[in-house]
Amino acid sequence: MSTPATASVAPDVEIVRRILAHIDAGTTDEGDPWREPVANYLDPARFSAELAMLRSFPSVYLPAAAIPNPGDHVERTSFGVPLFAVRGHDGRARVFRNSCRHRGLTLVEGPGCAHALVCRYHGWTYRLDGELSHVPHAEAFPGLDVSGRGLVEVGSREVDGLIVIGPLTPRPDDRHAESAMAALSDGGAWRDKLLPAERLVYVDATPRPMNWKVLVEQFLEGYHIRSTHKNTFYPIQYDDLNVIEAFGPNTRITFPYQNIERLRDRSEATWTTDRRVTYVYHLFPNVMVATFPDQVLVVVIDPVEIDHTTVTIYALTTTAVAEALSRAPEGTTGGLSLLAAGGSEDNEMSEGVQRGLHAGANDFVEFGTHESAIGRFHATLDQRLEWCR
Ligand code: FES
Ligand SMILES: [Fe+2]
Repeated sequence: MSTPATASVAPDVEIVRRILAHIDAGTTDEGDPWREPVANYLDPARFSAELAMLRSFPSVYLPAAAIPNPGDHVERTSFGVPLFAVRGHDGRARVFRNSCRHRGLTLVEGPGCAHALVCRYHGWTYRLDGELSHVPHAEAFPGLDVSGRGLVEVGSREVDGLIVIGPLTPRPDDRHAESAMAALSDGGAWRDKLLPAERLVYVDATPRPMNWKVLVEQFLEGYHIRSTHKNTFYPIQYDDLNVIEAFGPNTRITFPYQNIERLRDRSEATWTTDRRVTYVYHLFPNVMVATFPDQVLVVVIDPVEIDHTTVTIYALTTTAVAEALSRAPEGTTGGLSLLAAGGSEDNEMSEGVQRGLHAGANDFVEFGTHESAIGRFHATLDQRLEWCR
């Protein structure tokens, strides 16, 4: 690819320089074009292969701020596997397969906080570290090894504001999965943007009638800003003007706001991108971390079926903004409703793409040189599918 993958991303000042140069020249970052076969969005066999591959690599599971305190727990199905995360009394976040060891009921439903996890069906009880601690009428289970029947843990790490899970179906001695884990375990690229947003203020999980890759693509280019977001983002941003940086299998796309031009008259020492750009970090394969004025969104794109995907949005903010919001919720609704309006425009396009792919007009989906982050996403996906063959 023409965009070399470095370990991290450029400092904010360098990003401002690149954006101002693009504004002056009427240009944008460019890379290789890509053609993706339409069948890859419609073929259930391809989807099965992707799901199997996705389960054998690590991924971002949750923002850590979703479970800040001991006992906090949340569930989500990842690549078809029901999981939940819980913070223990020792402060450690752990991820478990969401299934009771008695008859298999999903143990955790929705978010909550508890000293212990009690199954709703027959009352088997687990400690926050996953150990089975109580079985009602235990005499009815002769030979039950209570100490060996704790919840089944999935390897995970909490790094720089994110909880990252290891492979759900690990393959033996998999160096590819190890290097993929390393790429998600160094938050140098996003740490200073995500960590201050330590308060979860909103979660929404919505099923969408489209392939998960169409949803990923939706975040990775600014070529659609004028056409799709005519009355929402276009009046405050730029059409087709992005900085694109690859770091490992991940990508950061910068979407500047027009107020960035005010920095021209100021000394570089005072330059900040805060409230002047949106950074979208694509943490391969299925998570976006997107910065906005006063909030950071962590968007998790969970493939469900070939043409169905669940999108979960975790909205995070700083403690100061969260407190201001709770005192005067109407104060920030302008920005939030603009974001919601822009998001629904994106989803309308993505739904239309999925419908249109059935028309038989195209053998491939065409991505131009201004959409190179999408080509890179598909190239990495193809490479991992190849490794799993
Ligand atoms: S299924 Fe959980 S206690 Fe029976
Ligand atoms: Fe968009």
